[in-house]
Amino acid sequence: MQPDSISADTVSGLRRALLDHYDRTARDLPWRRDTDPYRILVSEFMLQQTRVETVIRYYEPWFERFPSIEALAQADEDEVLKAWEGLGYYRRARNLHRTAQVVAERHEGTIPSDPAELRALPGVGEYTTGAIASIAFDVPAPAVDGNIRRVLARLLDEEKPTARWLRDVAARFVFRHRPGDWTQALMELGATLCTPKAPACNACPVSSWCGAYAAGTVEDRPAPSKKRVVPSRVIPLAVLHGAGEVLLQRRPAEGLLGGLWAFPEPGEVGASDFAVSVGLEPIGEPSILPEVEHRFTHLHARYVPMVQEVDRIRGSVKAEGSRWVGRGRLGDTALPVAQRKVFDSWLKSMG
Ligand code: ADE
Repeated sequence: MQPDSISADTVSGLRRALLDHYDRTARDLPWRRDTDPYRILVSEFMLQQTRVETVIRYYEPWFERFPSIEALAQADEDEVLKAWEGLGYYRRARNLHRTAQVVAERHEGTIPSDPAELRALPGVGEYTTGAIASIAFDVPAPAVDGNIRRVLARLLDEEKPTARWLRDVAARFVFRHRPGDWTQALMELGATLCTPKAPACNACPVSSWCGAYAAGTVEDRPAPSKKRVVPSRVIPLAVLHGAGEVLLQRRPAEGLLGGLWAFPEPGEVGASDFAVSVGLEPIGEPSILPEVEHRFTHLHARYVPMVQEVDRIRGSVKAEGSRWVGRGRLGDTALPVAQRKVFDSWLKSMG
């Protein structure tokens, strides 16, 4: 169905029914308690690729560490990454940090409400622009995330919603009187009832307006996108240790896990040759710890930790951006989840 053929009665009836339902049933989420733009900004960055249940654990501690956007702008990147540790997709943390700096430098510390200005901030895409503009500022801007895409495609029984179609439909439905609640009511419907599998149509407040419900096509809307084949790669890691500590290296700023601390990747070289190549003298034979798997968006990584004890007294490390860390000495070192598992498995192996 084309967006401009949706009748005004449909639009207003559907809005009222959905907002009534939202008012009665909305989950009490920590970012729904006020509309402070900084709190909304942080919530939207955290929620970009992460489930609500996970974000809740990180949300309040974030504000204890960075109580204002100025505090965040002035923080050290290491501290920001450390606070993000475990949330994954660390580019978001770096973008959020840069966004805080841009707001401090170009907007006198005030997050802009204008969608065009929001869109220009690092890490703020079309969806996040609409979400922040509507939720924090009550600007009637459409926002379409994965949940809302599914809800709209079902309401209008659209098999293959294009980006343009979604934008037009979302704009048609935007509710000028309560734009932020409207965005969240649509999200909430997608997250709770209009789920990808086994949607609860019998409990849905807008099923009487739903094209796919009427046509019996709910489970086929929108049509599933082709599954991407994610390549799998075996990645050896060098776990060089001495005096109860392991050697970590900061990864290059760009690329996978950019700027985070990780075990060095020795490539084709074994752990003891790698130790020698960075100026450390091996002690005894290398060993191997159990493989650790991690699924990134574009890569299924299978880490193989190769352990080698080294003589730290007689060697000095010639590996750029490296540091020794041990039990209880991780300090401000932000370790990605899989690296943390390797670290814990090494600690365990040391007894
Ligand atoms: N996902 C993205 N933004 C959200 C919000 N404000 N509430 C619930 N889930 C979300």
